[in-house]
Amino acid sequence: MAEVYEGALDRGLEGVVACTTGISSIVDATLCYRGYTIEDLAANSTYEEVVFLLWNNRFPKKDEFTQFVKDLRQECVLPAEFMSLLKSLPYQGVHPMTWMETATSLLSHFDKESQDSSDEANMRKAIRLTAKMPLLVSALECIRNGKDPKAVNPEKSIAWNFLYTLTGQEPDPEAVKVFDTCLILHADHELNCSAFSARVVASSLSDVYSAVVSGIAALKGPLHGGANEQVMRMLTNIGTVEKATEWVKEALANKEKIMGFGHRVYKNGDPRAKILRSMSESLTKKAGHPEWYDMSKVIDDTVQSEKGLLPNVDFYSATTYYSLGIPIDLFTPIFAAARVSGWLAHILEQWQNNRIYRPRGKWNGNEGLKYSPIESR
Ligand code: COA
Repeated sequence: MAEVYEGALDRGLEGVVACTTGISSIVDATLCYRGYTIEDLAANSTYEEVVFLLWNNRFPKKDEFTQFVKDLRQECVLPAEFMSLLKSLPYQGVHPMTWMETATSLLSHFDKESQDSSDEANMRKAIRLTAKMPLLVSALECIRNGKDPKAVNPEKSIAWNFLYTLTGQEPDPEAVKVFDTCLILHADHELNCSAFSARVVASSLSDVYSAVVSGIAALKGPLHGGANEQVMRMLTNIGTVEKATEWVKEALANKEKIMGFGHRVYKNGDPRAKILRSMSESLTKKAGHPEWYDMSKVIDDTVQSEKGLLPNVDFYSATTYYSLGIPIDLFTPIFAAARVSGWLAHILEQWQNNRIYRPRGKWNGNEGLKYSPIESR
């Protein structure tokens, strides 16, 4: 068990164990989902299979998986009335993660089971949200470009359909494989800020949609999921490989944080970053822009030598997404569309053994004061 110390109270609960969980574990630099290493899952599984694993604590048998995929595919649609409401939302100057919060919450208005808390209804809502959230991201991209999103191909995977509905073009198989791997790598990550937030909301016996929206809200921040977008903005600001070392040194000298580096739990490297690094290297080359990977590598080496910090999941995912032609401001919404499967696993696990989260605050304010009328203050 992690050590709990007094400083944790005001320092982000570092080292505090808030609940037991069997979904994903982090031991040193090894991340496992339900006991399987992330490297094994990334190399051999699919996102759909990993979602089943996260929710059921085992891999599906063949027939079960066929049914599970069918259930997911049936939910890969956004109702017409919902779409017309989405189109009426202002989006100029609105962060896409704010848009995701609103759109996800709006989905609950179209779900007759939104307030049904039975296990069966909760599982159906989990399937619905996992199928629909990637479509919310591509719907935003289409709406802001004045296009109607294409209907999904029910024979294809979530990864394939996301890239297809985003661009309107059938994606190439390598892009689909890379994106599917990204979905797997982002699906869950123990008791991170957004999963904890979703569990806290679930612990009050609020509903699935509300808990998921709280996860989106937490993920939005640049210290959490918002870092992937900031990484790409940093790379475009730096501009060239030659300027990267000086830029990093200056930023560190100014006590700035370099996005995509550091981690509360991993002190010997984030295993997801290693997988993403090799995908970034080959994809940037394939896209004809190896300089994005080269610049990233220089930044990576400089931050390591100057500050001893290693890249986290967000660092190389930025150039991976960019090489897939995904707009920068959609990086964090994509993270949410993948992480929803993990939030749902946490929400369902929380309800299996629920007690409301209600910590205490350590008092450091005034004491014994007496009210005085406004005229005499
Ligand atoms: N760039 C520069 N310095 C960093 C850093 C970064 N990315 N991450 C941590 N540090 C430094 C801090 O400034 C601090 O230094 P100090 O002791 O001299 O003050 C020290 O390392 C500890 O950092 P701290 O912010 O206390 O760690 P944390 O556990 O609270 O936060 C993160 C973890 C991930 C929020 C933090 O590393 C960070 O902000 N990273 C950048 C954002 C990011 O990539 N987020 C995605 C996480 S997956």
